[in-house]
Amino acid sequence: MRLSQFFLPVLRDVPASAEIVSHQLMLRAGLIRQSAAGIYSWLPLGLRVLRKIENIVREEQNRAGAVELLMPTIQQADIWRESGRYDDYGKEMLRITDRHDRELLFGPTNEEQITQIFRDSVKSYKDCPKTLYHLQWKFRDEIRPRFGVMRGREFLMKDAYSFDLSEEDARKTYQKMFVAYLRTFERLGVKAIPMKADTGPIGGDLSHEFILLAETGESEVFCDQQLIDMPVPDESVDFNSDLSSVIESWTSHYAATEEMHDAEKFENEVSKDNQVSARGIEVGHIFYFGDKYSKPMKCEVQGPDGKLIALQMGSYGIGVSRLMGAIIEASHDDNGIIWPKAVAPFDVGIINLKPGDEETDKAANNLYQSLQQKGFDCLLDDTNERAGGKFKTMDLIGLPIQMIVGPKGVKNGIVEIKYRKSGEREELSFDDAINKISS
Ligand SMILES: Nc1ncnc2c1ncn2[C@@H]1O[C@H](COP(=O)(O)OP(=O)(O)O)[C@@H](O)[C@H]1O
Ligand SMILES: [Mg+2]
Repeated sequence: MRLSQFFLPVLRDVPASAEIVSHQLMLRAGLIRQSAAGIYSWLPLGLRVLRKIENIVREEQNRAGAVELLMPTIQQADIWRESGRYDDYGKEMLRITDRHDRELLFGPTNEEQITQIFRDSVKSYKDCPKTLYHLQWKFRDEIRPRFGVMRGREFLMKDAYSFDLSEEDARKTYQKMFVAYLRTFERLGVKAIPMKADTGPIGGDLSHEFILLAETGESEVFCDQQLIDMPVPDESVDFNSDLSSVIESWTSHYAATEEMHDAEKFENEVSKDNQVSARGIEVGHIFYFGDKYSKPMKCEVQGPDGKLIALQMGSYGIGVSRLMGAIIEASHDDNGIIWPKAVAPFDVGIINLKPGDEETDKAANNLYQSLQQKGFDCLLDDTNERAGGKFKTMDLIGLPIQMIVGPKGVKNGIVEIKYRKSGEREELSFDDAINKISS
């Protein structure tokens, strides 16, 4: 992409409306614009990152055996009456009436919708277990939307729903999602620690929040340093094998959010050196809730003996749009965003220091084309802005690698590479630079 043809409205000043650094940087780097309180447009650069996050989430869901579908944003109130949640949900639910006076709502979550689909389509135990998921916008009329996309009213979530025949099977499904979540966050370049969460009236130990540690997190969290250092299962992990030992190693160390914190236990179980108390951002939440929805909504299948079985369900959310803010909270410096490679909107930013100069243009274009041909997504700054401004913008938008092409270097056949994260620079011939980046 040539910057002259792109749409990248960067802001030089820190917007006064933004309280935390990720929100400031998302506005400044031209990733989002606010449309109404807690509702945002995704500008081209932001959309690229959102898509990258989505894709990693998707790949790991698929790997774990979940199947993608897409449910609508608008739902009928009736299915929420069946589950009994229509009245309980309160003011966070955006309720809509259509021209025929039918009651609709903008979905804050999809348990009812998926349960309806499943019960109408699946009649036999032979078609279980199944885990279905989608990536869809949610609306929750949060009383205090804040921190940009971190606590929005409209936000993008990956939500998966599982249907199993027994609690034992549901536990296995839960473990698959647990591992898929560890892998997803690792691939996104962030550390998210699974912490035991409240299971409400259902009880049991099958609810975890995945918490990213960051100073601006909304809640206080406590955990064992060993969890932060624990390796995540690599891609060779077999989701059809017994995963209990992985889960065991992750859940045997202390980790709790404020609501679940037990100060005495923390003191006793975690050595002084390993006691971490920090602030955290909830980026994912997994939950087993048994027949909470399948029973009232009659989501049942016929078992081998002909008897009806109410399915054992779980739900598994990832805050996709929140993650973009969370990643920035965890990865930035005074000059701007530092994207982890996997989610960077472009792999390489090429700066042409003297557009209009024939030799420099030629060198920059060649470099751009060679890298594109090798599969790198490049942003070529071919605008007429002065050099200082170009450097500032490139740092602000946080692409992992910058390549600087100027008339002096071109004369000597040399390009400068700057690595955004370390700040290191090196000068190489064009060929060596291309090889270096490709390797
Ligand atoms: N208002 C919001 N804005 C952005 N992301 C959100 C919001 N609410 C929830 N999420 C994301 O969706 C995930 C699943 O949501 P859920 O656990 O149902 O929400 P909550 O914890 O707020 O009840 C959360 O872990 C979080 O990452
Ligand atoms: Mg939650």
